[in-house]
Amino acid sequence: MKYKHLFQPVMIGNIEIKNRIVMSPMGIGAYNDDETAAEDYISFIRARAGDPGLIITTGSRVTAKYGKFKLMGCYDDCFIPGMKRLARAARDRGSKIFLQILCLGGADPDDPFVPTAGIPMYQDEWEGPGRPVELKDEQIREITREFVQAARRAKEAGFDGVELFGAEDFLVSAFLCPHLNRRTDEYGGSFENRMKFPVDIVSGIKKVCGDNFPVGFKFNSFYDLPDGIDLELGVKIAQNMADNGVSYIHEWSFAKLDRPMSMFKYSPMPSLYQPRNTTIPIATNLKNNIKEVPIIAVGGILKPEEADSIIKNGEADLVAVGRAFIADHNWAYSSKRGLRIRPCIRCHVCHHEVAVVGKIVVCSVNPDVLGQNEPVKTDSQKNVIIVGAGPGGITAALTASKRGHRVALYDKEGQAGGKLVPGSAPDFKHEFTDLLRYFREEIKSSDVELVKDIKVTPDIIKEKSPDVLIVATGGLPVAPGIKGVGSSLVVTAEDALVNAGDHSGKNIVVIGGGDVGCETALHLSRKGNDVTIVEMLDELMKKEEIKHNSMILMKMLEDDGVALCLSITVTEITGAGVKIKDRTGACKELQADMVVLAAGYSSQPDGVQAFRSACKESYAIGDCAAPGRIRQAVSEGFRIGSLI
Ligand SMILES: Cc1cc2nc3c(=O)[nH]c(=O)nc-3n(C[C@H](O)[C@H](O)[C@H](O)COP(=O)(O)O)c2cc1C
Ligand code: SF4
Repeated sequence: MKYKHLFQPVMIGNIEIKNRIVMSPMGIGAYNDDETAAEDYISFIRARAGDPGLIITTGSRVTAKYGKFKLMGCYDDCFIPGMKRLARAARDRGSKIFLQILCLGGADPDDPFVPTAGIPMYQDEWEGPGRPVELKDEQIREITREFVQAARRAKEAGFDGVELFGAEDFLVSAFLCPHLNRRTDEYGGSFENRMKFPVDIVSGIKKVCGDNFPVGFKFNSFYDLPDGIDLELGVKIAQNMADNGVSYIHEWSFAKLDRPMSMFKYSPMPSLYQPRNTTIPIATNLKNNIKEVPIIAVGGILKPEEADSIIKNGEADLVAVGRAFIADHNWAYSSKRGLRIRPCIRCHVCHHEVAVVGKIVVCSVNPDVLGQNEPVKTDSQKNVIIVGAGPGGITAALTASKRGHRVALYDKEGQAGGKLVPGSAPDFKHEFTDLLRYFREEIKSSDVELVKDIKVTPDIIKEKSPDVLIVATGGLPVAPGIKGVGSSLVVTAEDALVNAGDHSGKNIVVIGGGDVGCETALHLSRKGNDVTIVEMLDELMKKEEIKHNSMILMKMLEDDGVALCLSITVTEITGAGVKIKDRTGACKELQADMVVLAAGYSSQPDGVQAFRSACKESYAIGDCAAPGRIRQAVSEGFRIGSLI
């Protein structure tokens, strides 16, 4: 076996977990109105069960009274039938499963309940519509009983254990944090008093469910607040919980509410621009100090070889893998067998869709996250031509080929990848190269015929006369109508990204401060050029939805010394640089040896139409039809590949 440390069994309490892989708890936005376990969520778990040693469910609320935000519930016996189906989805396939139990507290902006109201974070800085309400001690005892009853239901439903959620800004977490818990009764004032709420929950569960029913604990082992939880206090809390009966510690880190989770040192869900495995030092610190129970590490663990070395080096006892399981259902299965894994690119689309948009999860690289749309074999094989081997064309080709169609995939370049080739050029977009490699290897090992270096025309299509044509030729870089845009100084962002190695010591102006412009600017800056971004709007990446990512990229641009000209229009590109004008009408000239156009992409309606008229059954997908993200291209490629 390739990763022998990762596939060693380990004990959690009295339960043997067959390997060190934990599928991390993840809410996928699939909630029933009555908060019973949704079938889509059960499908999501079933599709991934079998090879992970342990699956931890998304947080399930123990009370409907404190916090109204919709979740999966476990606060009444009527939930038990759904909970049973959820537990069976994992157990029938050979994974152990723990139910994560939580109470929202301050995490519900509409109906927040907190240990101490009126402290700065909840008073002046509170942005939610509700006002934080301080819990009375009788209410705390009531919630404690609700946690215990929730665990009793989990046991009855067949779960192997529960995980108490003491992380983020949820209720248990707030009790642990000196900044947030300023109570002077038995629940605050001293370390022991702040521990009373979670300790009472654990001892209550032990009394009702018995010592053999494990209770894990996920908590902010580092809480980046003044008077928050530093590494030392994190160890003290974990040790206390271990002494009081929890069966494992699952680390997590968190920052002040007004900062995205990625903007501090121990980012718990690192984004595409950050390194992987960001919170491992926290796990290792816990592991070095706590001997009684296993420690679970989490945070950007994507690669089985890295997971294996975390275990091998004694940095943690188990690894929790989250997004990598969204990107590839078979992450654990393929790790065990050394098979190819579809890489998560840490783009944050999944989390954004669930937590910000409020919809069911989607993924940029996995078009079938719920595992409900496995392509079915066709009984009428067709000849399919796909023009354009970008992510959309490749996905359509692989899907159609898996279904039994004869597929030829054409590309004008000498290699497959489309815009992923320039998109993966910067080394700070860590997993994009992995995705490019993955696509190329998938094509190579499939029955798809890849025809490279051919600029296909509608006449060629007519001649070949396929049964189905899929046009995936990509978008065209927008060339704004600026005087001098044809100057020899001007290159596209794609060219600049791919050929960045040829440039250093230059003055470069990038026109366009969207994500492509910003990534290109940073890439060129890191190659030793002086780079200025000129943007018409008053902010970089203003239209980017995922602020989590754009804030990090902005910080990286600042750290690298990239100059910004915001609210500025380029009026002319000259032989010596660009002429610009600000909103007051003041003009000046920026000297440049190279000008990069990064003003976005447009669709190609005429080109698409010409192709489509060459074949009776035809489709256009991806940027050539409507510019979008990898996610749209992959999902359309999958849809059309499944449909034909
Ligand atoms: C869509 C999504 C939903 C999540 N929901 C939960 C949750 O319900 N409970 C929890 O403890 N963590 C939740 N997390 C955090 C993950 O469990 C995990 O800690 C985090 O994604 C970092 O791991 P990763 O880098 O492997 O994704 C969620 C993460 C994502 C991406
Ligand atoms: S949406 Fe992005 S971050 Fe989320 S699992 Fe898919 S590739 Fe990873």
